[in-house]
Amino acid sequence: MCGIIGFTGKLEAQDILLDGLEKLEYRGYDSAGIAYFKENGKISIRKTAGKVKDLRAICDDNDSLCGIGHTRWATHGGVTNANAHPHKCGNVALIHNGIIENYHELVSSYDLEKDLISETDTEVAAALFNKLYDGEHPLDAIQKAVPLFKGSFAFCIMFKNNPGVIYAVRNVSPMVAATCEDGSFIASDLTAFIQYSKKYFIVPEYTILTMTSEGISLQALDGTRVEPEFLEVNWDITAAQKDGYPTFMLKEINEQPAAITRTITPRIQNGLPDFSEDNIPKSLFENCRDITIVACGTAMYAGMVGKSLIQDMLGIPVTVAIASEFRYEKPVITEESLVIVVSQSGETIDTLEALRLAKTKTEKTLAIVNVKGSSIARESNYVLYTHAGPEIAVASTKAYTVQTAAFYLIACKLGLVQHKLTETEAHEFIQNLQNVSGHISEILKLSDDVERLTKRMLNASNTFFIGRGIDYTLSMEGALKLKEISYIHAEAYAAGELKHGTIALISEGVPVIALATQSHVYSKVISNIREVKARGAYVILLSMDEEITDTSICDIHISLPKVPDNFAIFESVVVLQMIAYYTSVGKGLNPDQPRNLAKSVTVE
Ligand code: AGP
Repeated sequence: MCGIIGFTGKLEAQDILLDGLEKLEYRGYDSAGIAYFKENGKISIRKTAGKVKDLRAICDDNDSLCGIGHTRWATHGGVTNANAHPHKCGNVALIHNGIIENYHELVSSYDLEKDLISETDTEVAAALFNKLYDGEHPLDAIQKAVPLFKGSFAFCIMFKNNPGVIYAVRNVSPMVAATCEDGSFIASDLTAFIQYSKKYFIVPEYTILTMTSEGISLQALDGTRVEPEFLEVNWDITAAQKDGYPTFMLKEINEQPAAITRTITPRIQNGLPDFSEDNIPKSLFENCRDITIVACGTAMYAGMVGKSLIQDMLGIPVTVAIASEFRYEKPVITEESLVIVVSQSGETIDTLEALRLAKTKTEKTLAIVNVKGSSIARESNYVLYTHAGPEIAVASTKAYTVQTAAFYLIACKLGLVQHKLTETEAHEFIQNLQNVSGHISEILKLSDDVERLTKRMLNASNTFFIGRGIDYTLSMEGALKLKEISYIHAEAYAAGELKHGTIALISEGVPVIALATQSHVYSKVISNIREVKARGAYVILLSMDEEITDTSICDIHISLPKVPDNFAIFESVVVLQMIAYYTSVGKGLNPDQPRNLAKSVTVE
């Protein structure tokens, strides 16, 4: 999940690389480095463990017009200066995003051990390219080396004696490129160079890209020319900036009303769900007997909401699978099954490989994706793009709510097409969905109250999120948010299940965030909350009650606007996002770049 960038052209390269790496830092921030051609044609490298700002502090060369840069999420080898990219071996310097699975075999097969000083698979790749490079013909070296690699890779490579030229080649790991009058760019994603060009293309897999100050050419491994398929960026640079917010995460939490409106509006015609603009045919929903939803992390939790909704409302069996498990559990999928994969980045390798497996069994694959032209979007039979805009913070917030909104549209469409909803019911459902943005805007006004209540969370070491039904599903997302940005252990639990063992962990002052928005199980949940309260828990309760003053139930009550039960999740999740956010900030942490994490998990 590293960030890579390359530039060659008429502008000074160092600042372009460093500024680009700062925009890519959300992809990984363990260490960073740049390699560049000096005026005399030599390749120089600056790299360090730490963040891009630490790299900037050691970069003092402003006389280069061509270079590559990398910000790392460590996979092979610890976070050290030696393991930082770029890696240079002899006449070759390169950066890499991905995992070379057969790097040990390559070391022994090509006797590379003596050339290595780091613990990384990437340096092995540099040594192999160098071994196969005759000092004059980089393309020959690349054509020979690439078929030898097993695994995922996105390489940007510089060869001595070829100043000003950057070569690139990928398999699975993402890479986009663009060219403009200032020069040519290549990067893991658009955010690195969008201010220079809104026209870009996705570098096709196993295609060698040659980038000079005059432009970019593509060729297949056999040397045949390949034409790039240009795309237009569908958002502007401010969308990938903080716009006055202290963090991307807080900005993205506050963008949710607009993100949901942008996502659902193009799919509502005459008050009913309509996917014609997405070229998703009615037939996809007509005869789907069962649904499998596959994703990772927050995207999976959005899928679990989709399951609750579709199964409860329409009686269609829905399975939610963890993508990394799905691939190895022999899933029961027939050609009548609808498989929905969910991914904000569209590059999560576990989800992408799960999609590829699903496509061997059914042609009814639908991707809910936020990044246009991403791998999952391109490989799925059908795509429902969410329009959340770029999500930079590692902790997913607006992506979750727009993915959930997409499932609400799908559920309504399924109900209509399979005659399980009348048009009147569907109109009411869609009206409730259109009201969600307004309710979230109301919740956002509670931010100061939520920030105050998180003071009690700061010293917690364990917390619990409990609920029943769709509230239990939401508890899982709430627990993940808190864990990943505050480092406090959090566990989501079915409220009715606690008494079967886990309640032994409840002791004086343990924070329990309880959700009680579902009227059909409300009294049961309140009983479960009393059970933990009676054992000393510090209970924060989210419900649609006007007021709860009974201290045997909760310490803090957050009253949510009254909405139909099925739509309460959109308000509740924003409160949970803010609880996690303000707990993280209260602990002096950086919620945008939590330790050990990266935004897009492109390694298995
Ligand atoms: C959520 O806050 C995390 N960043 C992580 O769980 C994320 O949702 C997961 O890696 C899936 O990413 P994707 O949506 O880009 O596929």
